[in-house]
Amino acid sequence: MELRIDRVSKQYKNKLAVDRVSLDLREGVYGLLGENGAGKTSLIRMICGVLSPSSGSISFEGLDAGDEEYRAMLGYLPQNFGYYPEFSAQDFMYYMAGLKGLTKAKARTRTGELLELVSLGDVAKKKVKTFSGGMKQRLGIAQTLLNDPKLLILDEPTAGLDPKERIRFRNLISRLGRDRIVLLSTHIVSDVEHIAGTILLMKKGRLIHQGSLEEVTQVIRGKVYELVSCGERAEALARSYSVINYRSEGEKVLLRFVCEGEPPEGATEAPAGLEDLYLYYFSEAEGHE
Ligand SMILES: Nc1ncnc2c1ncn2[C@@H]1O[C@H](COP(=O)(O)OP(=O)(O)OP(=O)(O)O)[C@@H](O)[C@H]1O
Ligand SMILES: [Mg+2]
Repeated sequence: MELRIDRVSKQYKNKLAVDRVSLDLREGVYGLLGENGAGKTSLIRMICGVLSPSSGSISFEGLDAGDEEYRAMLGYLPQNFGYYPEFSAQDFMYYMAGLKGLTKAKARTRTGELLELVSLGDVAKKKVKTFSGGMKQRLGIAQTLLNDPKLLILDEPTAGLDPKERIRFRNLISRLGRDRIVLLSTHIVSDVEHIAGTILLMKKGRLIHQGSLEEVTQVIRGKVYELVSCGERAEALARSYSVINYRSEGEKVLLRFVCEGEPPEGATEAPAGLEDLYLYYFSEAEGHE
C-alpha cells in the first residue's frame, strides 16, 4: 500500500500555498503539523482529489487522485465539516452511506458497528444539534469509515476536543492506523506527538521535516536549555536566543531556549521535544530552515 505524492504544488492567484511537496506514505499514522496558512488543507484537498495540483502528481496503488476507484478507497473528514443538525446520528450515517453507494443492508450494519466504534452507540437516535463538539467530530470520523477506506484523511480532527475526548480520539486513530494510511493535520503538537508514527512538518507550503519523533527532534537535540534568571539579564538572554518558553515567577524568570553554540553560564540542558521544535521553527525568528 503506497500513497505517492510527487513534487506537488498549488498556486492560487498570487499565493504559492504548496511548494513542491514529495512524500511516500505507507500503512501507519502520519501527523501533518504546521501553523495557520502553512498549506495543510491545500495539500489534503489535493490528496483527496477535490483540488487539482498546479503541478506534480498524486497516486495511490497506481490510481490517480480524483479517479473514481481512488475515491472508493478514500475516507475524508474536511476541516469544516457540515453536519445536518436536525438529523439523528444514525440518519446522518444512512444518508452518507447512500452518497457513498452502500446498499441499505450494508448501511445498517456499518452504521451500527461504526457508531459503537466511536462510542456513539447510545446516542444513535439523538439529533446532531444536541451533540458536543467532540461528539460531532467522532460522528465525522465514523462517516469517513463507512466504505472501510484504505486511505483515511482527517483535516484538524481534534479541533474543539476536550482532553478526555482527545485521548479517546488518539486511541481510535492508533487502532485505525494498523492496516491503513491515516493522515491527520493539526496544529496541536501533543496530538501528533502521541499518535503519529511519522511527523510531517510543514511551513510556508514546504515540507521542512519528516520522520519519527526521534528523527525530527534530532535537529535541536543537545541545544535546548533552561535557565533561571531575573531582571535585565533575563531580558538580554531573551533577546539573544530562540526562546521557547518564558515564565515569570515573582522576581525570577524561567527561560527555555535553543542555543546553537556555547550556552550562557548557569544554563542546563533539557530534553528536546516536539513542542520545542515547533516553536523553534514557528516562533517569530525566521531563517531556521
Ligand atoms: N481558495 C484560495 N484562494 C486563494 N488563497 C488561498 C485559498 N485557499 C487557501 N489559500 C491560501 O493558501 C495558504 C494555505 O492555506 P491552507 O488553508 O492550505 O493552510 P492551512 O495550513 O490548512 O491553515 P489552517 O491551519 O489555518 O487550516 C494560505 O495563505 C491561504 O490564505
Ligand atoms: Mg487548514
